[in-house]
Amino acid sequence: MTGSASGLGYAVSKSLIVEEKSNVICLDKKKIKNFNFKNSHTVDFTNNLKLKNTIHSIIKKYKIIHGVVNCAAVTIPENRFPKKDFKKWKKTFSVNIDSIFMICSILCENAIKNNQKLNIINFTSIGAHQGFPKNSAYCASKGAVTQLTKSFSLDYGKFGIRANCIVPGYFKTPMNKKSWTSLNERKKRSSKTILGRWGLPKEICGPVKFLLSEESSYITGSDIIVDGGWLSKGF
Ligand SMILES: NC(=O)c1ccc[n+]([C@@H]2O[C@H](COP(=O)([O-])OP(=O)(O)OC[C@H]3O[C@@H](n4cnc5c(N)ncnc54)[C@H](O)[C@@H]3O)[C@@H](O)[C@H]2O)c1
Repeated sequence: MTGSASGLGYAVSKSLIVEEKSNVICLDKKKIKNFNFKNSHTVDFTNNLKLKNTIHSIIKKYKIIHGVVNCAAVTIPENRFPKKDFKKWKKTFSVNIDSIFMICSILCENAIKNNQKLNIINFTSIGAHQGFPKNSAYCASKGAVTQLTKSFSLDYGKFGIRANCIVPGYFKTPMNKKSWTSLNERKKRSSKTILGRWGLPKEICGPVKFLLSEESSYITGSDIIVDGGWLSKGF
């Protein structure tokens, strides 16, 4: 599980450990506070070599990995608009898509070698499906995760590996602190949904657990949209 130190990743990790009694291996750039995640690794995903070594060391220690939930991501505001910033673009891609490619490639290879099943769940965003202002790197990186997930589901499906996306709408997490704090921005986002509100982090846990379980055994290459109806709403 990546991104366990904050927001949706924290909620999912805790729920898997406390409610499902799962053995969850947590990866994040930040140290995890507030809850004792026993198996946690502090690694910055922009450091490719360190990330690669961490995944290999996890495989060496645990041998069988049943699933991976790639939740870590960044969104970096383009506050010098109309200027676009290539450094921010590169960093966004490094965290949001390069890391997923690396983690999933290593885990898939290991699963096939050992004749094991593997379940991949990648977090995208409604920004993978719609344009959002001054956020081109984020939207493009999430669109790339959508396609990467489909490609992995196709390449590895015959080996019993499934790959799907969770597509969140707006949830109250540190990533969205600024738009939540502004009452105007908060209301604007609520009104874009059919349910008329933001999501709570606990509301992402059920869909992730469903995809991780055998209840979803015939689902692969798909999106599970968890957005209060944002993408379905016209007027
Ligand atoms: N919160 C929302 O409304 C929302 C909406 C759409 C999509 N999402 C997606 O859901 C996922 C979780 O979002 P969140 O709101 O919980 O965000 P968050 O900012 O609260 O948490 C992101 C986590 O990723 C980790 N991370 C960032 N850069 C890293 C790096 N270089 N190396 C390792 N870890 C790093 C952070 O330390 C943090 O713990 C993300 O993929 C995000 O794009 C969230």
